[in-house]
Amino acid sequence: TDRPRVLSGIQPTSGSFHLGNYLGAVRQWVALQETHDAFYMVVDLHAITIPQDPAELRAATRLAAAQLLAAGVDPERCTLFVQSHVAEHTQLAWVMNCLTGFGEASRMTQFKDKSAKQGAEATTVGLFTYPVLQVADILLYQADQVPVGEDQRQHIELTRDVAERFNGRFGHTFTVPAPYILKDAAKIYDLQDPAIKMSKSASSPKGIINLLDEPKASAKKIKSAVTDTGTEIRYDPQGKPGISNLLVIHSALTGTTVPQLEEKFAGQLYGALKTELAGIVADWVTPFRERTQEFLADPAELDALLAKGAAKAREVAAESLATAYDRVGL
Ligand code: ADP
Ligand code: NA
Repeated sequence: TDRPRVLSGIQPTSGSFHLGNYLGAVRQWVALQETHDAFYMVVDLHAITIPQDPAELRAATRLAAAQLLAAGVDPERCTLFVQSHVAEHTQLAWVMNCLTGFGEASRMTQFKDKSAKQGAEATTVGLFTYPVLQVADILLYQADQVPVGEDQRQHIELTRDVAERFNGRFGHTFTVPAPYILKDAAKIYDLQDPAIKMSKSASSPKGIINLLDEPKASAKKIKSAVTDTGTEIRYDPQGKPGISNLLVIHSALTGTTVPQLEEKFAGQLYGALKTELAGIVADWVTPFRERTQEFLADPAELDALLAKGAAKAREVAAESLATAYDRVGL
């Protein structure tokens, strides 16, 4: 196809995706299938940079895939696979490790943050070279664009630098990818503390909407979301972060613009917005949960689907790897 190619990955999840994952990433993956030649993967190799229980990791990989499928990622419209099923990722990563400066890798702020939290003895070399595996992930597919959030921008810069270095030294081999800042990617905040983003690691149970939770439980969390002491339903992220967050979620799920919502709720109290949104979220999660359960109920079918995706991915990856090894003299 002459569509631009995109490559994106998501970590296996030991539990449910949350509303931020969906509205900030997965929903855009679904849309990009229509305009791009999309490659999407569950990045289990990245997951083992911190210790994982084997059975839990395998289950988490399937669970992430099932949720992607339930959200509308369609193997007929894109290539969906599990990173470790395509051995070329680690094979190319070694070459890229040998082209990346130690100082260059040491400047990655995500590594600095994560390793500072873990301490030097608990931090693995894998965590250190994680961005280099990401370089290989992207270059293997000759991706034109990489949909990323702001926190991944530095890794895309590294990918571009290493791709240009490889091409300069060995002849043009890899497409130099551009970051693709997602359109309509909503940033969702914690329902109890709208100063922080909704996050698996940082949010309290009441602050996060997990897509696989009982719809009733999610509705209850929306109804008890923290708001300010005013009464006006108006988008004002500084002065009214809680209400603004609820407006953004409503708008993202219904397609109604925020100004339209402000008009609709003019003169009404916060409870009216919360009640309506609670219903909208419950209506959205109900079929999502059912579809996820359907995919999980037939692991053989799910595995077959992922094996097919891996075979499709490998067609592209094997060609890139063979060319790269040849150019390097391997
Ligand atoms: P978490 O922060 O909960 O651990 P991840 O870091 O695994 O989530 O993020 C997976 C994807 O979901 C990324 O593309 C990330 O940008 C997106 N994402 C995570 N939280 C939010 C949020 N609160 N709002 C918007 N997008 C988010
Ligand atoms: Na995170």
